[in-house]
Formats: sequence, structure tokens, C-alpha cells
Amino acid sequence: MINNILNKVGNTPLIPLKIQESPNLNVFAKLEFYNPTGSVKDRAACYIMNRLLNERVINKNTTIIESSSGNFGVALSAYARMHGLKFICVIDKNTLPVNEMLIRLQGAEVICITEPDEFGGYLMNRLKKVREIIDNTDNIYWVNQYGNPLNAQAYYNSLGKEICLEIPRQKLDYLFMGVSSGGTITGVSQMVKRKHPEATIVAVDVEGSVIFGREASKRFIPGIGSSIRPKILDDAFIDEIEFVSEKDTITSCRELLEKHNLYAGGSAGSVYQAVKQYFQNKAINNPVNVMCVFADRGERYISTIYNDDWCRMVQEYVERNHSKASVSV
Ligand SMILES: Cc1ncc(COP(=O)(O)O)c(C=O)c1O
Repeated sequence: MINNILNKVGNTPLIPLKIQESPNLNVFAKLEFYNPTGSVKDRAACYIMNRLLNERVINKNTTIIESSSGNFGVALSAYARMHGLKFICVIDKNTLPVNEMLIRLQGAEVICITEPDEFGGYLMNRLKKVREIIDNTDNIYWVNQYGNPLNAQAYYNSLGKEICLEIPRQKLDYLFMGVSSGGTITGVSQMVKRKHPEATIVAVDVEGSVIFGREASKRFIPGIGSSIRPKILDDAFIDEIEFVSEKDTITSCRELLEKHNLYAGGSAGSVYQAVKQYFQNKAINNPVNVMCVFADRGERYISTIYNDDWCRMVQEYVERNHSKASVSV
């Protein structure tokens, strides 16, 4: 018996997804929204907090701080509260109201950045704020998901292991994962390449994100993409990169719901779209096993991806504008 739902991280369902146009493609989706606070980020928050406490890097009087506009903030606020730790979450104007509400309800102090940085986004100013608070606070620990090796280790030891265990006798041909801080793909790819060296790891990024050297432009969907290249990715094994537009992400999210009864979050739509795009013009004569990670659920996107007016606004913006300003991370 577990003493707290938050300790029930991982062992998420793996479901097969048939893509009509590609009958030889055996797609399996790992449904990470079955984690306690609703996303893949529980794995990192739970693991990092336990490691820090067990190794006495932090103590019960330590303040935890992180810059996050979404799922990681929600996860950290829950795990910090479970351990009785103070948590400061630096968010920004683009944070979805539901995420801000969940972070606050779980006891975190929320600092909201409203001033855009030189790139038109908020990430630089969020990080500046974090450093300012650290300089003025004793006994404070910055989780720093973009550079902390514990972030990747969390995924190596949990999601990476699970993915490998779930297909022990089968061949893993491809693994598709969305990238933002880079922690998930770094840890999972290290484990998968150990157990399935033949597998091709495909990183999924969105147009407008600079992670893989493309030019920045305005992005609307949080959770995937970034306006920096995270340091943690230096240790990732990435064979190929598939870029997806936000328009196709929206279409694919809705297709997951209509065809597969999956009410999934934005990056799941990006990943599903990436799989379809990648194999679109490839002849697949033998069965190919494709694993993909669906990071969160659709509820948090009810006012965006699943809202027709919002989708029209994005569509009109894309048609009207070719802005170079980057927003959200
Ligand atoms: C919805 C969603 N998908 C994908 C990711 C990517 O994970 P990572 O930050 O480990 O690259 C995140 C991270 O916050 C996320 O919230």
C-alpha cells in the first residue's frame, strides 16, 4: 500500500495506435498523463526531490525554486508540499491559468514575469528573476531543469527503464519524444541506446523553437520547444529531428480524440504528427515498432487547442504574421 498518491509515479499504460495509412506501423503510445499530477514531469519532480533529501543536499528548511510555466511547476509544487518544503515558482504572462491555479493551490509562492525579454519571450527574464532570488536567499536550491543532470537521471531510471522492459522480446525500431527542457529525451535515450542500440531516436520539436538551431518565431502551445538550447541535451542520443507546425499539432490532437478516443495534450499531438510525417513517403514492407511518449492530457488545453476560437486566432496569426519574436518555453 502506498502512503501518498504522489508516490505512485510511473508504470503508465502503453497502448497500441493503428495508423490507417500505414498498416505495417506498430505504434505504441506511453500515456504519461496517468502520472499523479497529470504529466511526465512527475517522474523528474519525484526523483529529484527524493535524491536531494536522501543525500542531504537539501533539508526541511530549504526553499526550492524553479522557472516553469507549466507541468514541471505543477509537479514540483505537489512534491515540495508533500515533503513540507517551501517552493517558489517563477512563471510568466503566458502560463495557462489552470497551471497557475494548480501551482498556487498546491502551496507554492508564484512570481509572474510580465516584462518580455530581448527575444520577445519571457524565459530570459524568468531565469534572471531566479538568479536574483537565489542571490538574496539563504538555503535555497534551484532545480534548473535545463542543466541539472538529475533531470535526465530521473528519466533514465524510470521512463527509460519502463520503455525497455515493456518490449523485452520485441525489437524497438523507433522512439519519438517531444523536447523542451531536454530532460526526458536525454535520460530515456541513454537507457534505450544501452538496451536497443539499433533503435532510432527521433526528437520532436515545433516550428519557432530554437533548440535545434532553427530561427525563433512566436509559439502558442506550451510544453514543447524552447527559446534556448538546453545544456542537458549535450548528453542525449538523438538520431533524427522532426519539426512540426502548431497547425498540424492542433489537427493531430483532435485526430487523437476523434479516431483513438485519446484526449491528449499539445506535445502528444506534435509527437503523433511527427510519426505520421516521418513515415508518410516511406515504403514500410515489414512491421516496424514505434514507441512514442504522450506527455500530458488534454484538459489543460481546453481553452486553447480544443477551443475553436483560439485555433482560429492562431491560424489567422500564422497567415498574417511571420514574427521573429519567441514566446513561452
Ligand atoms: C506537455 C509536455 N510535453 C513534453 C515536454 C518535454 O519534456 P522535457 O522538458 O523533459 O524536454 C514537457 C515538459 O515540460 C511537457 O510539459
